[in-house]
Amino acid sequence: MLARFFQKSENEGKQPEKNKQEKTTKKIWAVAGGKGGTGKSIIASSIAVQLARRDKRVVIIDADLGSGNLHSYLGVTPAPITLADFLRNRTARLSDALVVTQYKNLYLISDANEVLGLANISNQLKENLIQQIKELDFEYIILDVGAGTGYNNIDFFLISDNGLLVAVPEPTSIENMYRFVRSCLNRKLMRRFQNTPYQPLIEKAAYPREAGGFRTIYELVEKIYQLDPPAAEIMVDEILSFRPRLIMNQVRSQADIQAGDSIRDVTRKYLGVNLNYIGYVTYDDRVKLSARKRVPLFQEYPNSGAAVCIRNIVDSFLG
Ligand SMILES: Nc1ncnc2c1ncn2[C@@H]1O[C@H](COP(=O)(O)OP(=O)(O)OP(=O)(O)O)[C@@H](O)[C@H]1O
Ligand SMILES: [Mg+2]
Repeated sequence: MLARFFQKSENEGKQPEKNKQEKTTKKIWAVAGGKGGTGKSIIASSIAVQLARRDKRVVIIDADLGSGNLHSYLGVTPAPITLADFLRNRTARLSDALVVTQYKNLYLISDANEVLGLANISNQLKENLIQQIKELDFEYIILDVGAGTGYNNIDFFLISDNGLLVAVPEPTSIENMYRFVRSCLNRKLMRRFQNTPYQPLIEKAAYPREAGGFRTIYELVEKIYQLDPPAAEIMVDEILSFRPRLIMNQVRSQADIQAGDSIRDVTRKYLGVNLNYIGYVTYDDRVKLSARKRVPLFQEYPNSGAAVCIRNIVDSFLG
């Protein structure tokens, strides 16, 4: 069983995932990354614009509770009703916060901006929010997730059908990205093994440096296998079903591009997770210029290097 896990991990990592046409009619894409300022919002908003331009009905949600700024990237004035109103019970339906954008098929749900404490919503409220996100009547639901490994960010990422991680080629970003993936995996396993005797072992895997901790996920699986082989099988399935995609942003050199390969390799080596490195976006001053003007990148600089990279990434998804 363990041999299969090792084998499968290695093989899957080497094969770039083909653009398989997904069967579900609604797709939730979450854009996260662990670290602040890597370009999550600009990439999330650009992907949303690209999908809308391809005649898909899209909503983008500023899920960066308390510090979102998506409306600026989309050139939309602050909305009259926002996620904050939903979270503070001023409106019962999340769909009340939908606002139009300049793109026919693209709607926005703005952040709960500047409302103290909303970054720490209760579990019940979060469950309600997630339920209403899933019920939104759109082909694509894009979530711009905040920085860091807070539970909100992890939970938004884990509900997605397509989890996109945005890193920049800097040690701190790579470190935070790894931590984010490890935290997501840990939460996924904790949930799957809720009310089982294996939870304390899984918890240990989250702290590999502590005494008695597991250095790699393989050690955890091995331990569970000794205790309960079918449970270890379930665990392996859980690990292998977690397949986030990685985008390297702000790259300036071949070495920067290759940093994505290193992240993929390390993630596989220690966490058994097969990150799919789907592409990179070049560093481009025009990204900042368009942000400064509060105009979408694709409107102001549709042929800039960064815009072309993002278009290619969306193309490769849609086939
Ligand atoms: N490819 C790029 N080239 C040049 N600048 C970029 C690029 N991508 C992002 N930036 C700039 O980096 C900054 C951060 O971008 P963005 O707001 O999208 O990051 P973020 O990850 O959403 O940040 P936060 O964690 O604060 O939400 C912005 O000033 C943006 O213009
Ligand atoms: Mg952001």
